[in-house]
Amino acid sequence: MSRLGINIDHVATLRNARGEDHPNILEIAKIVKSSGANSITIHLREDRRHINDKDLSILCNSNFLINMEMAANFKMMNIALKNKPKFVCIVPEKRNEITTEGGLNLKKNFNQIKKIVKKLNQNKIRTSLFIDPTINNIALSKKIGVNCVELHTGKISRLVKKKKKFKKEFLKIKECSKFGKTNGIEIHAGHGLDYKTTKILSKINEITEYNIGHFIIGESIKIGISKVILKFKKIIR
Ligand code: PXP
Repeated sequence: MSRLGINIDHVATLRNARGEDHPNILEIAKIVKSSGANSITIHLREDRRHINDKDLSILCNSNFLINMEMAANFKMMNIALKNKPKFVCIVPEKRNEITTEGGLNLKKNFNQIKKIVKKLNQNKIRTSLFIDPTINNIALSKKIGVNCVELHTGKISRLVKKKKKFKKEFLKIKECSKFGKTNGIEIHAGHGLDYKTTKILSKINEITEYNIGHFIIGESIKIGISKVILKFKKIIR
């Protein structure tokens, strides 16, 4: 069975909107874990717009399998080495982007990423690279010596949502997954995933981990809001 990682960045976004401590990140992480999630993903962005250093430290020092997403630089690498998350996923990062807008440019940043991956691997942190699904990216990932790749599923997710033809993108992801597995790289998928696209991708047996954030948090509000309203109605009765 594939693993499910839950990205809880949006919980921190909501908390930060009030500058207080609700919803509490540790409390949510505990619920996420006890609900069956296999790991918890947090992206420590350079601008700290949601998850902050304290969140990272608290979560890494509790009993969670933390997948830390981070930009490919040595400052972030040192933060990871200090906090020791079980997993690190290196992602591209642009200051003005709303969310991670595409995969890493492995050709351009090859040497730096290779050094970071080597150091993290030496420290027994599972490493992953967030890449667009191309055979060339998988081949470069192999040369870098990373344990896993996370294939960017933003394109297929968008096509499925817009009810457009997605078969070509699906086959591309499938081909990359097979090629990656053959080369000893574990295959993950993430970005933009909802029930529909996840179901479609679940036909690719080589994908062993899904990392999902936005849809799960949004859907949780949709499903949970009536419960909270009922609780308030009882209080003010
Ligand atoms: N995987 C990676 C590497 C990401 O950067 C993100 C977005 O933060 C996700 C998965 C989750 O994407 P979404 O929030 O669209 O589910």
